[in-house]
Amino acid sequence: MLTSILICISIHSAVGLSESYMYVCICNGITDRDVREAVHAGASDLSQLSAMTGCSTVCGSCGDLALEIMEETRREHFSLPLLAA
Ligand code: FES
Repeated sequence: MLTSILICISIHSAVGLSESYMYVCICNGITDRDVREAVHAGASDLSQLSAMTGCSTVCGSCGDLALEIMEETRREHFSLPLLAA
């Protein structure tokens, strides 16, 4: 049975802003931010994400989480606003 390992990192910048990210793909060191950036750059499925980032190209256990983050990113940034009738 494969076990997903989620590692969250917080980085505090010199100007006091903090940024957190999560490793999605441990094999290749791909974070949720890398996945989101790939979606913004045009990745629309796991094979495109893999080609762009290397995510899910070794053991493959990160694929489901990567797809969830891709879908979440599309919902947040590419959905059309609802228009009132
Ligand atoms: S965790 Fe992504 S390929 Fe292994």
